[in-house]
Amino acid sequence: MSGALVTGAAGGLGLAIARRLAARGLSVQLTDLDGAAAEKAAQEIGGSAWAAALDVRDAAACRAAAAETERRAGSLEVWVNNAGILLPGLAHEQNDTEYRAMLEVNAMGTINGTLAAVERMRRAGSGHVINIISLAGLVAPAGYAGYAASKHAAIAFTLGTLTDLRRSGLDRIHVSAVCPDGIWSPMIAGKVDDPAAAPSFSGKMLLPAEVAIRVEELLGRPRPLITIPRWRGGMTRLLDLFPSLAVRLMPLLLADARRRQQRFKRRVESGDWPPA
Ligand SMILES: NC(=O)c1ccc[n+]([C@@H]2O[C@H](COP(=O)([O-])OP(=O)(O)OC[C@H]3O[C@@H](n4cnc5c(N)ncnc54)[C@H](O)[C@@H]3O)[C@@H](O)[C@H]2O)c1
Repeated sequence: MSGALVTGAAGGLGLAIARRLAARGLSVQLTDLDGAAAEKAAQEIGGSAWAAALDVRDAAACRAAAAETERRAGSLEVWVNNAGILLPGLAHEQNDTEYRAMLEVNAMGTINGTLAAVERMRRAGSGHVINIISLAGLVAPAGYAGYAASKHAAIAFTLGTLTDLRRSGLDRIHVSAVCPDGIWSPMIAGKVDDPAAAPSFSGKMLLPAEVAIRVEELLGRPRPLITIPRWRGGMTRLLDLFPSLAVRLMPLLLADARRRQQRFKRRVESGDWPPA
């Protein structure tokens, strides 16, 4: 059997991805900072899925987890860097601790996981690392400066690593960046009342299972970067291309995002969201 490892897999998108990988026949190691919650998630999946505590900020622990997947499953075919944290707030008001936390988990965590997986995959000659980024990796939404900085770093590392693998003739090791719009997961489900989190509600609200399908599709058709949905990627890149326009449009975009967020709150309260 082939092995896979997912970080931050105790719930939300990570669990949905682990489910799809397991259904695909992979032996999946679900890891999370919260080891007990990861254990519960692995039991829910059943079969050959198993769990372990893993803090992605710890490079040595990431390497040990990669070795463990290989030992237990026989190979490490897929590694998904999914663990992440979002601490919204005005750039000039957030503190050093908040910035460090986002950079260490979202950027360094992705770097640690990618390197741990690539080390094993180079020996095996093949494999796929999938890094869950965000549309905030392509543009900086209002009030998400620290989060966007950490996600921009993660995209740069993803694409840079892919280029270096190709330069070195390692054509059968793939590295992909996945940039989804807002996802209805514990990360934002508790933030319908928080105006600082409005940008997460500005486009299409995705369900974890929808994103997980796209992640699985990447295994059959590896690509350097995908945005979900695709049209939001185009819109985001347009804002990135014209920063002066983006700054001028920001109050309008933010007001629209806030309206959508309030609409979501009403839908949740009336039982109309999330879909059964
Ligand atoms: N929810 C969204 O709107 C959204 C949108 C785009 C991208 N993303 C990204 O998707 C990924 C999954 O997020 P989610 O929405 O499922 O959020 P989530 O909060 O439900 O899940 C994140 C998981 O990461 C774990 N985690 C946190 N710090 C960790 C660490 N140091 N080491 C290991 N695990 C750690 C948490 O315990 C949690 O289980 C994240 O990278 C997030 O940035 C989320």
